[in-house]
Amino acid sequence: MGEPISITIDQQTVQAAAGSTILEAARQAGIHIPTICYHDYCTANGLCRICVVDVEGSRTLQPACVVQVQDGMVIHTRTERVIRSRRTILEMLASSVNLSEAPEIQDLFNQYHSDASRFPDAEPRHPAVIDDNPMYIRDYAKCILCWRCVQVCAEDAQFTFAINFSGRGYETQISTFYEIPMPESTCVFCGQCVGVCPTGALKPKRQWLLEMGYTPDEIMSLTRSQRQRRKRREEISQNPA
Ligand code: SF4
Ligand code: FES
Repeated sequence: MGEPISITIDQQTVQAAAGSTILEAARQAGIHIPTICYHDYCTANGLCRICVVDVEGSRTLQPACVVQVQDGMVIHTRTERVIRSRRTILEMLASSVNLSEAPEIQDLFNQYHSDASRFPDAEPRHPAVIDDNPMYIRDYAKCILCWRCVQVCAEDAQFTFAINFSGRGYETQISTFYEIPMPESTCVFCGQCVGVCPTGALKPKRQWLLEMGYTPDEIMSLTRSQRQRRKRREEISQNPA
């Protein structure tokens, strides 16, 4: 970080390091700005826009997790425009994604008095749960496309590059390349994607089976047999004859 510069956040004049983001400067000043796609250990991409703030002189609201502070910047984090924008973002998310296992987003719903049924004509996405490996399932009906899993699978942590976006617009989804099953991808099942997923879209397989009422013995047998099937597949691919 660079030299300290002076900025004003919510009428409070504070020092911030040049090169820091508005979010970092606000946190240092003890001012809370909500985040969804942002994760402390992932590259910020400014995707969800829940962190928007009003910056004097800027025509549009600015995403605090990616915009850097400038000397003399005057920032307002809770104007009516900011609140309305955050509320609408939450309502749009609820109109297309199953947020039942996203407690942090549900908290935001209460804080911003959002109406989950504001867009009754919206078409929620209902892709089938993908259960193609013994370690975790992918339930993209719960995916908010925050990009965290893709980033930890790539340069932010694992350098495995097993997943990316696929599709366009409404059909956009996280997927393996060519939508091949996870065991056939470069995935090493490190579990980091599951760890950063904020919505339950990625879930340990055992937890998923437990929630469906399977007993620990049944779960052991189910995951073990899948592991054995995978091992057999690998043996066959190595010795095709
Ligand atoms: S699967 Fe989870 S971590 Fe990945 S983009 Fe969707 S919500 Fe984000
Ligand atoms: S938290 Fe800043 S854009 Fe998502």
